[in-house]
Amino acid sequence: MISKMTKRITKRPTGRAIKHTIGRTGFCAVTALFFFLVISFTVDLPAGAAKPRGQWGVLAAGIPNNIGNTFTGDPASARTITWESSIGTGEVIIGNDHYPSTVSSVGSWYFHRVDVSGLQAGQTYSYVAGSPGFYSPVYNFKTEDFTAGDFTIIHVTDPQIGSGSNAADAAVWKRVIESAVNLCPQAAFAVNTGDIVENAREANIPFYFDYSQDTIAQLPFIYTMGNNDSALWYNRYFYTPANGSGGFLYSFDYGNTHFVSIDSNIKLTAAQLGWLENDLGTTAQKWKVAMTHEGDYGRSGRNTALTKLFDKYNVDLVLMGHNHFYARSRPINAAGMDKAGGTVWSIPNTAGTKFNAKAGKSYLARDEQPNLPMFSTVKFSSANIELNSYTVDKNGAAVLFDTYSFR
Ligand SMILES: [Fe+2]
Repeated sequence: MISKMTKRITKRPTGRAIKHTIGRTGFCAVTALFFFLVISFTVDLPAGAAKPRGQWGVLAAGIPNNIGNTFTGDPASARTITWESSIGTGEVIIGNDHYPSTVSSVGSWYFHRVDVSGLQAGQTYSYVAGSPGFYSPVYNFKTEDFTAGDFTIIHVTDPQIGSGSNAADAAVWKRVIESAVNLCPQAAFAVNTGDIVENAREANIPFYFDYSQDTIAQLPFIYTMGNNDSALWYNRYFYTPANGSGGFLYSFDYGNTHFVSIDSNIKLTAAQLGWLENDLGTTAQKWKVAMTHEGDYGRSGRNTALTKLFDKYNVDLVLMGHNHFYARSRPINAAGMDKAGGTVWSIPNTAGTKFNAKAGKSYLARDEQPNLPMFSTVKFSSANIELNSYTVDKNGAAVLFDTYSFR
């Protein structure tokens, strides 16, 4: 277990050991003065080297591949770190604490998962993942901050590695997510609404991770499966809370917001729809956000039952993908008609290289194809939701494309 002491990072990761300032806060938050009475010493983590760029896109023996960072439990106190390696035992190390991995195997490769718990809210932690002699570089993550009045997330979708060349697509994906983090370094987490790869090709997965590994290992990612992803291998790489009713259906709270992820590849069963209705109907959070790859208000439309539920339970925002164009709806009801306080649907084009023609739908306030990869940031405060969407140019510069605040 993590000790009751607060751990604060004093340096960015260098690939070597990292210094911590460790302070005794005890449990008493009343006397803020004690928070600042800190004792400094150094904790050395057995950092390994990053995967050489020449090996990006292929699995390397020994070192951890495809390192993921997400939360499957309480974002304030727990974190899930995952990776793939040729070694059958592994661990995550945080400070002096060692967390052994649970492991499953496919052929000669091992999929590792570590659920770290007992963390303190609003703190930055350093970790390495891997096996003795084969650890990752030092990476950092920050737990949910209870004291923050608002928070911002990054929304990306459809990097679709392999729709062009694997390396070119992965380079664009890297450019987009790094541009997003550069613009919004305080982002609490990123949502990726699916189509990691083209045509369910599992072999393309290392391109997604390797090119952007430093980002993906440090910023928690929340995943919703796309139609080009495959349930056959999805859970080897992308881990989600298990509170849903089977399938890729789950929800969690962060700050003042309730998030629910829905697999749009399947027709939800009666039990799953019942779970979803209960989930949306009982949350007391101020904002409700749904994440689904493909929805009625893209071009094709598939989940009419979902649209009605979102309208019935006043879902504020739906984060979508699939269509590979930029679209933002007006606040609308289940019939696609304007409704004060209705649901806003958002599709931030693609974080890859495949661009489709715009939708041409009347309920869209913005409906465009700038032929540039994009990302959105979404800020949730007590007053409103602020959605900003950006194009990313070939130099990685983010240019504001659309801004919209609503409540
Ligand atoms: Fe796609």
